[in-house]
Amino acid sequence: MTRIFILVALTIWTASIRAALAEDLAEDLTEARWEEVSQIFSTNCINCHSSHGAAKGLRLDSYDAVLAGGVDGLVVLAGDPFGSELIKRLRGDSAPRMPFLATPLPPSQIDLIVRWIEAGMPKAQPPD
Ligand code: HEC
Repeated sequence: MTRIFILVALTIWTASIRAALAEDLAEDLTEARWEEVSQIFSTNCINCHSSHGAAKGLRLDSYDAVLAGGVDGLVVLAGDPFGSELIKRLRGDSAPRMPFLATPLPPSQIDLIVRWIEAGMPKAQPPD
């Protein structure tokens, strides 16, 4: 009898933990918004990645430009952050590391962009 009780209690406990984890993940995905990503690009990238002389033809000064990529093609692949050239450059998995000749972005900012790509590069916050 006691053993059954413990089993039931354990099952309920692990189910509630799993539900809490799923909620955390869902929150993370909606948190990664284009607004925040574009702020990171404005501060760190658009000096070299905007208008005509943009490095490698890659402009990071508008949503459509980021999705369009540069002369070598796409730099963000929906749902595949670590296969995306932009993340490889930020992490130093692909050289030269970005931002070019400057301090790497803090891990929390790279993580935000990773989650934004993972979520399929949402442009606006989905309505509640
Ligand atoms: C000081 C100028 C400069 C800054 C600032 C800069 N970049 Fe770059 N970026 C370059 C240059 C130059 C290249 C081309 C290097 C190469 O691959 O030969 C490049 C290439 C890239 C590429 C590769 C494009 C492709 O098609 O292969 C990506 C992605 C990129 N940058 C993203 C960023 C991001 C994101 C930031 C901001 C966090 C940033 N860059 C900041 C100069 C800069």
